[in-house]
Amino acid sequence: MKDYFFQDTIGKPMDRVDGRLKVTGAAKYSAEYELPNMAHAVLVGSTIAKGSIKSLDTKRAENAPGVLAVLHYQNAPKVPGYAQAAHPTEPKPVGQPLQLFIDNQINFNDHPIAVVVADTLERAMYAAKLVKAQYNEEKHATDFNKNTAKAFLPTAAKRNPKHPLGDYVRGKEDAYKTEPLKIESEYVIPTEFHNPMELQSIIAHWEAADKLTVYDKTQAVMGTQNAFAKDWKIPVENVKVIATFVGGAFGNGLHTWPHETAAIMAAKKVNRPVKLMLTREQMFTMVGYRPHAWQKVGMSATKDGKITAITHEAIGQTSSYEEFTESTLQQTRMMYTSPNVTTRYRILPLDVSTPIWMRGPGEATGAFALESALDEMAFVLGMDPLEFRLINHTDKDPEKNLPWSTKYLKEAMQMGAERIGWSKRQLKPGMVKNGEWLVGYGMGVGTFGANRGRAKVKATLHKDGTLVMQSATTDIGPGTGTAMVQIAAQNLGLPPEKIVFELGSSLYPPSPSQGGSATVATVGSAVHAACQALKQRLTSMVAGNADTSFKGATVENLTFKDGYVSMTASPSARLSFADILKQQNLPELEVTEESTPDASLRQKYSMYSYSVHFAEVQVHPLTGQIKVTNMVSCADAGTIINAKTAGNQMIGGAVGGIGMALTEGAVMDHRFGRYVTKDLAEYHVPVHADAPNISSLFVNKPDLINNPNGTKGIGEIAIIGVAPAIANAVFNATGKRIRELPITPDKLI
Ligand code: MOS
Repeated sequence: MKDYFFQDTIGKPMDRVDGRLKVTGAAKYSAEYELPNMAHAVLVGSTIAKGSIKSLDTKRAENAPGVLAVLHYQNAPKVPGYAQAAHPTEPKPVGQPLQLFIDNQINFNDHPIAVVVADTLERAMYAAKLVKAQYNEEKHATDFNKNTAKAFLPTAAKRNPKHPLGDYVRGKEDAYKTEPLKIESEYVIPTEFHNPMELQSIIAHWEAADKLTVYDKTQAVMGTQNAFAKDWKIPVENVKVIATFVGGAFGNGLHTWPHETAAIMAAKKVNRPVKLMLTREQMFTMVGYRPHAWQKVGMSATKDGKITAITHEAIGQTSSYEEFTESTLQQTRMMYTSPNVTTRYRILPLDVSTPIWMRGPGEATGAFALESALDEMAFVLGMDPLEFRLINHTDKDPEKNLPWSTKYLKEAMQMGAERIGWSKRQLKPGMVKNGEWLVGYGMGVGTFGANRGRAKVKATLHKDGTLVMQSATTDIGPGTGTAMVQIAAQNLGLPPEKIVFELGSSLYPPSPSQGGSATVATVGSAVHAACQALKQRLTSMVAGNADTSFKGATVENLTFKDGYVSMTASPSARLSFADILKQQNLPELEVTEESTPDASLRQKYSMYSYSVHFAEVQVHPLTGQIKVTNMVSCADAGTIINAKTAGNQMIGGAVGGIGMALTEGAVMDHRFGRYVTKDLAEYHVPVHADAPNISSLFVNKPDLINNPNGTKGIGEIAIIGVAPAIANAVFNATGKRIRELPITPDKLI
């Protein structure tokens, strides 16, 4: 199998093709474009969590220097595509993203109430402070713990009991309850925020009354294009979305948000391009978050470690105006062999803004509970938690009753256990010490669907022998362009330095959003197809040569290497790609190929990526300080296209998981329904000093059922399972089981 990946370019730790542009500041992010005559907009948010605007005083702002417009519900241009409720007294349809400035209602604290447009950013910021609102305040409900009784089954699951979020029972419902050896525990994660380095920003430019261009921070150029075309009732092709570089996103770029509409409205009103960049504080209220969740796991097992039943229940937070759901309980349904599994998922609407997917959405939350519970059960059994997981390993999907396309989780576990030194772990907590510090080891497993969608790539081979590819995907940081160059280099036999992959524009052939860990499987398959098509075309050209040295050439009996085609059996017959085009008098050779996953194959197999994370922590018994001293994250993610960028992605996920476990969590002052942790000083993401030596290891075996490159995704599994690995290590060090994240020192002393 080794030959398959490492023969040429795939797998190599190639530097990022855009690395130099990024580190020298030459890469342009959405807020960095300068358009002629551009104006600046600042969004003003409400200071109450629920109620309505009684009066809005915008006079002082309107009269401030440089102000071009102050837009609000009374004067904003109508968004023609907003689906209005039939009558103002009727409730709004469930599942409606926030519609900007349609009425005076306030749904959460910092609900947008106005946008101020001025000729400079400073003037817009100043005038925004002059906007004053009076409210009819209503009693808000923002406290999750006080409102759990109001949780309900999501509407979609109510309509369709087979909906993945509907209640699920395998075997006997709640079977653990009557078993002798069992655990039952509740787990809580707080609301967490994405906090990418780049703030959400947009430049909106109406090039004509029905022609809109946006430079927008988004993970989905086409999703954004479609959303705005629908909003403004203009043809899709009249909306151009540019997102060439994205400075991190983690899911908050998978949705369109009110600030984008605010900029588009403002640009329409003042008839100039308008730039709007959220502040860091607004990033906590305007663009979603990982929702607060309560979970309960009941589990039973036999004395020799066979799980007999699992019940996993979850309640996730949503907003009052939109039902956000995520697959929190998926891992519980398919990861272990238990004959009896029950899952129940509910959502709790509160007077807060709507959550959105955040790296490992749902699964990262669910895995914290499931993998902590596994550790608790193993402890009750007096069993090593790695051994406990191996005993309950399953070689087919017990939920769908299908074979896995590939699953090399056991290999990943073995690699990781060796690297972390799992044999040093003692079953009894508090037994291993380093001076005063208590040392503990923990593990957690993660999984995420090995998704693949449909994508199109245009590939143009130029007469100088270079290849330019285009597709409307984005790169939020993982190094998509680099991976695509490597796939093309390998498949076409062209050195990577002769290949360019262009992305981040709606003008390119369609690709889905960068989300759900699916980009390499999706777009990489289209790159593969485009290379096959180019090879086919080049083959026909040489086979038809007057000079007969390529007589009888087929793609199979030719070798494509270093930009040359040769007959494999007689390599002296050799022509460069450039010469082939020259012979044909072609300035370029262009193909556009679409790749679609085989739906029938995807019904025969269950496809997932897997990760296992091992953590070593040290806890000070007097102060409760926790240091993660070592981490090993191992993945079964199919073929690894680039050892360096894939490793970086795993390390990034592990750091995110450290934040989840130890430092991150929104704190709200429920008197006002307002977060008090709204910047990077109060909301603690791990810094370099919090991130230990993290190793990332890959099984690196292809999944050729999933796609021709054999890849499965990495993005989500990099974080799923990290938080429980750390929580379990803290237990192993201290004997204290902390079931509410983050595990701050006060919870240990
Ligand atoms: Mo991700 S949560 O699919 O950006």
